[in-house]
Amino acid sequence: MSDLFFQRLFAERIGGGNYGKSTEIYKFEKIKRAKRKALADYPDRALLDFGIGENDEMAAESVRQVMAAEIDKPANRGYADNGVAEFKQAVARFMARQFEVKLDPATEINHAIGSKPALAMLPAVFINPGDVTLMTVPGYPVAGTHTKYYGGEVHRLPLLAENDFFPDLDSIPADIRARAKLLVINYPNSPTGKVATREFYERVVDFARANEVVVVQDAAHIMLSFEGEPLSFLQIPGARDVGVEIHSLSKGWNMIGWRMGWVCGHERIVRAFSDVKDNCDSGQFIATQKAAAAALDDPEIPLQTREKYHRRLKKLVDVLDRLGFNCRMPGGSYFLYMPSPRGVKGGPTFDSAEAAGQYLITEHSICTVPWDDAGAYLRFSVTYEAADKRAEDALMAETEKRLKGVEFVF
Ligand SMILES: Cc1ncc(COP(=O)(O)O)c(C=O)c1O
Repeated sequence: MSDLFFQRLFAERIGGGNYGKSTEIYKFEKIKRAKRKALADYPDRALLDFGIGENDEMAAESVRQVMAAEIDKPANRGYADNGVAEFKQAVARFMARQFEVKLDPATEINHAIGSKPALAMLPAVFINPGDVTLMTVPGYPVAGTHTKYYGGEVHRLPLLAENDFFPDLDSIPADIRARAKLLVINYPNSPTGKVATREFYERVVDFARANEVVVVQDAAHIMLSFEGEPLSFLQIPGARDVGVEIHSLSKGWNMIGWRMGWVCGHERIVRAFSDVKDNCDSGQFIATQKAAAAALDDPEIPLQTREKYHRRLKKLVDVLDRLGFNCRMPGGSYFLYMPSPRGVKGGPTFDSAEAAGQYLITEHSICTVPWDDAGAYLRFSVTYEAADKRAEDALMAETEKRLKGVEFVF
């Protein structure tokens, strides 16, 4: 069939006239297809799914009850615009209680419909054509995609084991630093599991000041911090003068589908963000905001989430260690990120993590997510569905049994 007229009209940012014609298959689609094939080829072999990156549990019952009650209130029916005071005040209480960070709920906090849209909108606040966003890789690419939509460029900062999974800010060429406007970081980091230190954040503040760059710290996994108490970027002296932190109720509160997050930090950046946001959406449903406020007021919820994923990560580290993988407990997140095997003794060799991932799913029905952006690594997620601790142990035993005879080469 010949092209319809609109094919020529697609914007260059999505591929222009070639939009929809690429035969390239994206990583996550490849994984989906491999999963389907494994299920079809081995219908009697359970798929061990360490590929899912979403919490496996519903939001707390107490939060669902608030939602159910708020749904019935006529006052909650309308546009929420930039958010209701109840949610912002709950965020201010949470930030003060958890991090001793004092924020003015009226000016230094704004809700977002999850942290993803906040990351998508912040480039609109700062990026003109030719400006640069500095971004760590591997990572969550949304701010970079939107930077490019606005005619900006992305400078990738690889997270390497030899740099302890921190970006090497000194390696950024002078011309890139001169054009850089945003530095997007993410700690606890997904997928490496690295948590930030005070020293690292202090270096980030110094870098931002010296180079006049705004910091966007993505704290989506912050309540899944296992090394001491969670650390907010805003706890660092001077941080508020150079940037904002983005938070999410998705991970720590099991509210992934509820779409609630917030941007907090410097009043002027928060205001500019809310102006852009006001032109993109009309706010999250007020009942959801009130339920999220109730979730923030209950310190037990993120503690339980943290305890559960910490327990599951420890079990998986034990098993994978015995199988020869070189993995250590992550500092945070629900991911284990480890060097990918280069092959199997007496079996295939792998030229990438993607090849190793394909082997695991095809030959053993074990699903992982490969990362080849900064070295070959495999990511195992512990958000698998398991009803209780016994079910977790059974899954671990099955994983070990399936891979026991395989001698991986690293
Ligand atoms: C590092 C990171 N940031 C942000 C997000 C977006 O989370 P949400 O939009 O659910 O708040 C995710 C989701 O997977 C993530 O992994």
